[in-house]
Amino acid sequence: MNRKELIKSYINFFKSKNHAEIKNSSLIPENDPTVLFTTAGMQPLIPFLLGEGHPQGKRLVNVQRCIRTGDIDEVGDTTHHTFFEMLGNWSLGDYFKKDAIEYSFEFLTKVLKIPVERLAVSVFDGDKNSPRDEESREVWKFLGVPEDRIAFLSKKENWWGPAGKTGPCGPDTEMFYWKPNNKPVPTVFDCGDSNWVEILNDVFMEYSKENNGKYNEAKQRNIDTGMGVERMMAVLNRLEDNYLSDCWKPIIEKIEELSNKSYEGNGKVMRIIADHVKASVFMIADGVTPSNTEQGYVLRRLIRRAIRFGRVLGTENFITKVADAIYPIYDDYQLDAEKINLELAKEEEKFNLTLEKGLKIFEKYANSGIKELSGGIAFLLYQSYGFPIEMIKEFADEKGIKVDEKGFHEAFLKHQKLSRTASSGKFKSGLADNSEATMKLHTACHLLNEALRIALGRKDIYQKGSNITPERLRFDFNFDRGLTPEEIKDVESLVNQKIGSGLQITCEIMSLKKAGECGAQGVFDSKYGEDVRVYSIGDFSKEICSGSHVENTSELGQFKIIKEQSSSAGVRRIKAVLE
Ligand code: ALA
Repeated sequence: MNRKELIKSYINFFKSKNHAEIKNSSLIPENDPTVLFTTAGMQPLIPFLLGEGHPQGKRLVNVQRCIRTGDIDEVGDTTHHTFFEMLGNWSLGDYFKKDAIEYSFEFLTKVLKIPVERLAVSVFDGDKNSPRDEESREVWKFLGVPEDRIAFLSKKENWWGPAGKTGPCGPDTEMFYWKPNNKPVPTVFDCGDSNWVEILNDVFMEYSKENNGKYNEAKQRNIDTGMGVERMMAVLNRLEDNYLSDCWKPIIEKIEELSNKSYEGNGKVMRIIADHVKASVFMIADGVTPSNTEQGYVLRRLIRRAIRFGRVLGTENFITKVADAIYPIYDDYQLDAEKINLELAKEEEKFNLTLEKGLKIFEKYANSGIKELSGGIAFLLYQSYGFPIEMIKEFADEKGIKVDEKGFHEAFLKHQKLSRTASSGKFKSGLADNSEATMKLHTACHLLNEALRIALGRKDIYQKGSNITPERLRFDFNFDRGLTPEEIKDVESLVNQKIGSGLQITCEIMSLKKAGECGAQGVFDSKYGEDVRVYSIGDFSKEICSGSHVENTSELGQFKIIKEQSSSAGVRRIKAVLE
C-alpha cells in the first residue's frame, strides 16, 4: 500500500461510517495564537470541539499536514519527523468511546489487515481529574485483545492535550504495533519497549483546561483521533526505518545521487536533510518566509541546518534539488515548486555568504586548544554569521569542546537591550523609566492583558501597544467596540483579585519556539531573536517581555481603569492607575 492508498482507504472507511471529509488546513493556525504551527488534526477544530456547530456535521474525517518542532536537534533517528501527515476522525458530541474504539479496531484489523496478535493497547489509569478507564478496557477485551496486552498508564502517557495553553483535552487509548520482523511478539505488553510503536491514538475529549490550570468538564464529549501516515507506511510495508517508505525514499535517493554517497553509513545526516527540506517546503507553501522571528526563524534554522549537513556530505547549492524530489510525492497538494524553490535558493545563497567566513572564525578558536567556546564568540557567530545556537553546539561537539550557553544568552540579552534602547531612544517595552511606580504599572499591564481576554471571553485579544509613566499605564488592544460599564468593572475586579492573591512573578529565558509552545503571549511589535524572556504571574499570565517587573502582585495596590476609548479602527485604549 502506498501513501495515497492509505489516505484514501482511511477517508473512505470513515465516510462509510457517515463521516464528512473536511479540508486539510494551513500549517499556520488560524485561530490559536498560543502555538506557532498546526501540530495535530484537531487544532483547526478547536472551536467545534468546544461546542460550536460545525457546518459539515458531527462526524468528520481528514488528513492534516502537521509540524512538530520539539527540539530540532533530535531529528535524525528513523522515526521522528518535523513535518508529517495525520489521519484523524472526529465525533463532535456524537459517538463516544465504544464506537471510536470499534472503528479504530475495524480499520486496523479488517481494512489494513494488521493481525491482532501484533497489537497492544494502553488505557488511562485515572487521577484526581478523571477516573480509571475501565470502559475502554472492557471494549478492548470484547474485541479480542488479551488482558496482558492492555496496559493501564498514567496521565503522562495516556492523556492528550490541550494543543496550546488551554482548551479541549482528555484521557486517551493508544494502539501499538510490534515492529521487529525477526523477534517473536512478547505475550505481555511492555510500553517501555521501543519495539512497540504507537500507531493510533483515540482521545476522549471530555475536558477543557482553563487559564487557571483547572480541568472543567467540556460542554460536549468528543472523540479526536490521530494516526501518523509516515509511521503507518513503515508498518504496512514491514519496514523498520520510516525513511525507506515511499514518503521518504525518493528524497533519500536524491541526496545519495547529489552527494555520491550511500544511505548506509550516512543515514543520520541524510535523514536530517530530507526531514528539514521537506518541512521547509511545506512551511513556505503555507506562506512562511525565512526571518529572525516566530515561524520564519524555525524555517531559517531548518534550511540552514540542512545546508550545513549538506556540507558534511560534500554537497553545496543542493537544497532546491532535494526539494524537487519532494514535489512528486505530494502532487496531491499542488505545491508551487517555482515559488518555493526561489525562497529556498535565496536563503541558501544568503547563508553561503557567511557560512565559510563564520566557519573560519570558529575553526580559529576551536583549534586554539580551548575547552569551551566563550559566550561572546558564540554570540558573534550567531549575530554576524547567522549560525543558530544549536548549529554552533554541533560544530563544537565535533571538535570535542563545549559552548558557554549561559554566556551566549547573556550576550544576547545585553545586545537586545542596548539595541532597543538605542533604536527607540527610550525603553522599548513602552516604559518611560525603570522607577518602582513604573514597574508596578508594568506588572499591572500584564494582568490587564490577561484579564481582558478572560473577562471579555475573547482569546484573540492581544496587546497592540503600551506606554507607561510613573503616573499611569496606557494599554492598546484589538477589540471592535467600546466596553460596557459592567465589562470594565469585571476587568478591574479580576485584576484586583489577582493582586489580592499575592501571585509571584517569575522570569525564564527560553527559545521563542518554546515560548510559543508553552503558550506565552507575544509583545505586539517586537523583533525577537532566538531567545526571549518569559514572565509568568502565578499561573494566571505568561508573556514574552523585556521590561522590569515587581516580585509579587501584592505590591501593586488598587487597580483602577480611568478611561476606555477608541484608539484607531478596531483598537481600544485603556488608561489605568494604581491607587
Ligand atoms: N490529537 C491526538 C494526537 O495528536 C489524536 O495524538
